[in-house]
Amino acid sequence: MPTHELSGTRAVVTGASRGFGRAIATALSQAGAQVVGVARDRARLEDLRANLGEAFIPVVADAADPVAAGQIIDAYRPGTLVLNAGASPLLRPVHHHTWQTFSRNWDVDVQHVFHWTREALLLPLDRGTNVITLSSGAAINGSPLSGGYAGAKATIRFLTAYAKAESDRHLLGIRFTSVLPKLTAGTDLGAAAVTAYASYQGMDTAAFLDDLGPTLSPEQVGKTILELIIDPGYDQDAYLLTPTGLAPIG
Ligand SMILES: NC(=O)c1ccc[n+]([C@@H]2O[C@H](COP(=O)([O-])OP(=O)(O)OC[C@H]3O[C@@H](n4cnc5c(N)ncnc54)[C@H](OP(=O)(O)O)[C@@H]3O)[C@@H](O)[C@H]2O)c1
Repeated sequence: MPTHELSGTRAVVTGASRGFGRAIATALSQAGAQVVGVARDRARLEDLRANLGEAFIPVVADAADPVAAGQIIDAYRPGTLVLNAGASPLLRPVHHHTWQTFSRNWDVDVQHVFHWTREALLLPLDRGTNVITLSSGAAINGSPLSGGYAGAKATIRFLTAYAKAESDRHLLGIRFTSVLPKLTAGTDLGAAAVTAYASYQGMDTAAFLDDLGPTLSPEQVGKTILELIIDPGYDQDAYLLTPTGLAPIG
């Protein structure tokens, strides 16, 4: 049953065309928010608009482009900003990476969080705004087949905490939170990683998934991000996200 806690509010979700971002955009839209979805794939964004209706505004842009970040923040001034966009890493052992492939998630994921959080602080967005960034459980556990992915995701966690400290220091009232989801095969990025890790360990994918245990669905991620936005009790910098929910990271 849809709830309407976000009626009259506006959200921007980066990487809204598929995976977690699509599910997050859907959950926020069903809670009554106008949702601006940013991604590069116009057809997928249009498909989401066909599902969600006119309250979903597709914006085709590279989320790592600082001009796009500035223009979209200026134009829409969101009360919720979900920085979810992320590149799929090249899945190989570290010595099979070049510097360019190793650093892909720095160029996309970290750069985009840097530009958008900077815009949020400089404008600044309104008091009470929620800025949520998608880090990863890999930021804690590492991800040896994903080049610089785990380090990039750890940096997103740090950047989000730094932004929260600046918001507190300047009394801006913007809540910054990073979320570190557990690996799931339920998205393109996650499915590719599961296949690569299974093959590296000489296992079939089904056996690898058995060992991994219960995993998140994109819909669970969308629902949990909505809960995080609505409940002011989530006041920590960073949370692990597993199928049992959010757990603060000390
Ligand atoms: N799946 C997992 O197991 C897992 C676990 C922990 C953390 N995460 C993180 O959660 C986030 C979402 O992951 P996912 O699994 O949903 O990945 P996904 O299915 O591969 O989707 C990635 C999304 O990011 C968008 N994107 C990529 N580069 C972009 C760019 N330069 N500009 C704008 N949009 C861009 C893609 O849209 P376009 O291609 O249309 O631009 C797509 O909508 C990522 O940050 C990922 O690192 C995922």
